[in-house]
Amino acid sequence: MRSIKVLTVCLGNICRSPAAQGILEYAASSRKGIELQLDSAGTAAYHIGSKPDPRSIAELKKRSIDISKQRARQVNESDFDYFDWILAMDESNYKNLIAICPESFKNKVLLFGTLPNSPALGAVKDPYYDDEKSFEAMADHLMLLSDNFLTFLDSSSHK
Ligand code: 4NP
Repeated sequence: MRSIKVLTVCLGNICRSPAAQGILEYAASSRKGIELQLDSAGTAAYHIGSKPDPRSIAELKKRSIDISKQRARQVNESDFDYFDWILAMDESNYKNLIAICPESFKNKVLLFGTLPNSPALGAVKDPYYDDEKSFEAMADHLMLLSDNFLTFLDSSSHK
């Protein structure tokens, strides 16, 4: 079993992608035969060095997942070489990633909710300007997407 390197990406790296990292870590821990090395990043530089949004931390804490030690960073060119998969939370994040991704690595960049040969589960909506309910919905959605991604990895061609 090899370790698969996965980077989750949103805009600010404080709401969705840190939560996606924590939830993927949690989901993978209960699956045999899959070991993930995870990190998260933002396409923007606004929040470099910041902790995840307190609403993301609190929502995941309810689910016994601790993301409080993560710190925001911006995606950089070496990420495209280093990671096996780069998961964009929405179309805008995807477009921003593809715009800076070297041609040979573009097939590593996927929309988290629209994986090849998998059910289409939709974009992860940005909850930053919304209330706590949106963070709950975000976490529910990320649980589904994470399970779906692990099933995608289970198909032997992606291991
Ligand atoms: P995220 O949410 O991309 O899920 O981390 C956002 C965080 C901050 C901002 C926008 C979205 N912002 O404009 O500062």
